[in-house]
Amino acid sequence: MNKKQTDLLSYDQQHVWHPYTSMSEPLPSYLVESAAGVYINLASGEKLIDGMASWWSVLHGYNHPKLNAALIEQSSKVSHVMFGGLTHEPAIDLCKTLIKISPEPLQKVFLSDSGSVAVEVAIKMAFQYWISKGKTSKNKMLTVKNGYHGDTFATMAVCDPVTGMHHMFEQVLNKHYFAPAPKTKIDQPWQADDTAELEQLFIAHHDSIAAFIIEPIVQGTGGMRMYHPNYLIACRDLCTQYDVLFIADEIATGLGRTGKLFACEWANISPDIMCLGKTLTGGYITLAATLCTTDVAEVISNGEAGCFMHGPTFMGNPLACAVANASLSLLLDGNWQQQVQSISSYLSKYLLPLSSHQRVHDARVLGSIGVIECTQKVNMSNIQKRFVELGVWIRPFGKLIYIMPPYVTTNEQLACLIQAITTVLDEDDSFIAEIRK
Ligand SMILES: Cc1ncc(COP(=O)(O)O)c(C=O)c1O
Repeated sequence: MNKKQTDLLSYDQQHVWHPYTSMSEPLPSYLVESAAGVYINLASGEKLIDGMASWWSVLHGYNHPKLNAALIEQSSKVSHVMFGGLTHEPAIDLCKTLIKISPEPLQKVFLSDSGSVAVEVAIKMAFQYWISKGKTSKNKMLTVKNGYHGDTFATMAVCDPVTGMHHMFEQVLNKHYFAPAPKTKIDQPWQADDTAELEQLFIAHHDSIAAFIIEPIVQGTGGMRMYHPNYLIACRDLCTQYDVLFIADEIATGLGRTGKLFACEWANISPDIMCLGKTLTGGYITLAATLCTTDVAEVISNGEAGCFMHGPTFMGNPLACAVANASLSLLLDGNWQQQVQSISSYLSKYLLPLSSHQRVHDARVLGSIGVIECTQKVNMSNIQKRFVELGVWIRPFGKLIYIMPPYVTTNEQLACLIQAITTVLDEDDSFIAEIRK
């Protein structure tokens, strides 16, 4: 690396926070110069195959000519304008498409800046719905353990109590109801008692529960757990029976990642409120959406306030909406089902056999998601460094080494990702033993 690049990295280490990283003992960061297709190009010269799709978001690859063109074209018209009292074609087109492709009862769209905000909006919608109906006692959320819905305070309060840091923020987080995480795996015979404790919570507390929130089919950050569709069907039935709104957080799963356009389709259910994010712009710019039914929107709008009480400055940003429209047309006019199916078959054939490796507890695949659960926690900085040497970008956490590559990833590129995972598993214990205090 040249002096400028070394200075940049040194400044970064001293002054720039990275996600979940210490400022006094930061994990190393790698300086990116560019990215194209499925490759991330580092300033130090390495060209890495991206196994993470920048945390689930990149679908069609980096530096895509159609997405670039959409941004450039929109920037010459209007890059941003407030959404209060003004509207524009990119946002209208986007909402039209989202309504067309999502479960039919979802008819209203609230655009926002990020996944966490989309979930905040969903939770606020649920609370305001019941306030508007005069049922102010319905002021709690119900969810399941091992969930992840974001890092802001309302979302942290519905994340898994341990990984969601409830203990640390005990004094500031709202208290909600938690059922055990779904147990029956997606490929196991359904065990009807899986929802027994959840049902008890509905029975005991439905008068105080505004909404139930869950990541459909795959619990992502909370352990990459793939659970049985019947669990979701039971949740939908319980919500209907006990007059509780159903929020599906499709921020990670939405737009094809699990092999269905929306993960709710595995169970053929429709939520009352649905959150989308990450993939909306094909990984280009932050944008999220919260969709709801006409009933939710009308009750809120006919309530005391007469409107929904939320309005971010960058709501409906035209650049983000334009690139989202371009990304959605690439997805919907393209062959995403075949792409995801092809990744799925390849991972099933070549990643799943790693389940017999002595350092592996379990291997699983769903759609274009491949997961290796190790027997012990991984050493993040050692393993990351080795992956970079091996020419791939894979960022494990806890015991999990997982990939969810862009849909355009070829079999040869998948082979490199799987080979790199096999190498770190084979090589030596320093990758699989947690050394950080
Ligand atoms: C299911 C789910 N919900 C919400 C979020 C939060 O999204 P963001 O990081 O854009 O705030 C994430 C992010 O990983 C997620 O996976």
